[in-house]
Parts: sequence; structure tokens; C-alpha cells
Amino acid sequence: MDLTDDESVEKAFSEVKRYPIDYFFWNAGIWRKLPFVEHSLKDIDAITATNFTGPLKMLHRFHEAHILEKRPYRLIAISSVSAWRVREHETVYCASKDAQAVFVLNFAGELAKELPGSQATVVYPGGMKTEIFKGVNVDTTGYMDPRSVAKIVWDEIQNQKEVCREVHLVRDKEKNDGSFFVEHGPKPRGIK
Ligand SMILES: NC(=O)c1ccc[n+]([C@@H]2O[C@H](COP(=O)([O-])OP(=O)(O)OC[C@H]3O[C@@H](n4cnc5c(N)ncnc54)[C@H](OP(=O)(O)O)[C@@H]3O)[C@@H](O)[C@H]2O)c1
Repeated sequence: MDLTDDESVEKAFSEVKRYPIDYFFWNAGIWRKLPFVEHSLKDIDAITATNFTGPLKMLHRFHEAHILEKRPYRLIAISSVSAWRVREHETVYCASKDAQAVFVLNFAGELAKELPGSQATVVYPGGMKTEIFKGVNVDTTGYMDPRSVAKIVWDEIQNQKEVCREVHLVRDKEKNDGSFFVEHGPKPRGIK
């Protein structure tokens, strides 16, 4: 589906609702680094729709259907360290990743009450070597391997007992070899 297009989201939902789905990974995202003044209105719409409002609409439909079926599910949001770390010229992107995380943190209790057995996980990765930087001049040499990140994410959600968990995968910038630390719990916003 194209998350920036409501019709496309509805169409995709009508297709996926035929299948029993137990894991909702909120992973899609686009990234922009440029001064706020240089974001076009289209950029703002694209970032907010892809990273936040589009997935939220899909989740709404998915959640509604799961309530009707009384089927619990796991919600896993791939947010970003950018949700809590201040980064120059990434204003709209960082705000979208925090909005995603804050939505899930607030929704987790509601989800577990409505569909007991459900759980939510918010993952905040640091820089990964992915297509998000395609065509942009970013040195990803010391960035994390997304496969190592995916493995940790999967292990974390399999071991999770609590309703809501926050997992931070923070790059070891001193080593700068792709290694990272795993930390849990809330982080204050605005860290430089
Ligand atoms: N890479 C990093 O350093 C980093 C760090 C922290 C967090 N993250 C987060 O990790 C998540 C995954 O990103 P990634 O780094 O793996 O980048 P990626 O390789 O570019 O993957 C982005 C994904 O988003 C999908 N997507 C983009 N626009 C879409 C749209 N309009 N409708 C539907 N799907 C759309 C893409 O689908 P198609 O392939 O079909 O286009 C792709 O599957 C994002 O939420 C990002 O914010 C990334």
C-alpha cells in the first residue's frame, strides 16, 4: 500500500483482513534532513503521512477488526533514537518518530484492556545501513546492520512479559563498527 493515500490503505486493509495476523509491525518510514524552512509542504505531508498518520489509519482499521474477532495481537513500532535525541535539520522526521512512539506508549494500556494478551513494543534504533539513505550523502560506515537489529527486536518481543516495553538500540559511536548497546525504559526527550 501507499501509506500516504487513504484509498490505498483501505484497499490493502480489505485484502489483509482475510488473514489471521498476530503481529503488526509499524516499520515504514521516510527520512529527510534539511532546514525546516526548506521543507516543502509536500515534504511535510509525505513525512507525517508515511511515518505517522498513514500507519495510524491502518492500525485503526486493524484494531477495529481484531476487536470484532476478539483476537489479541502484538504491536511493534520501529521508532528511532531520533524520537529523543535532538538532531540538526531533522525536525519533522524526529517529531514524526516521537509522535509514533508516544501514540504507542499511550495506546498500550487501552490495547491490553480491550484485547487481553496483547502487548506493545516501541523500538528506538540508532543509525542503520538501510535504503533510507539511498541517494543522500550520508556516511553509514559505522551504522548498525539492520539484520542484527531485527534479531534483537525479535528476541525482545519474544521475551517480553509486560504490556509495554521500550527498547533502545544505541550505536557505540566510539567503536564506530556497527556495534550497539541495548537499553530499556523511558528516555527524556531533547538529549543532545
Ligand atoms: N535507517 C536508520 O538509520 C533508521 C534509524 C532509526 C529508525 N529507523 C526507522 O526504521 C524504519 C525502517 O526504515 P529503514 O531504515 O529500514 O528504511 P528503508 O530501507 O528505506 O525502509 C523503509 C520502508 O518504508 C516503506 N515505505 C516508505 N514510504 C512508504 C509509503 N508511502 N507507503 C508504504 N510504505 C512506505 C518502504 O517500502 P518500499 O520498500 O515498498 O518503498 C520500506 O519498506 C523507519 O520507520 C525508520 O524511521 C531507521
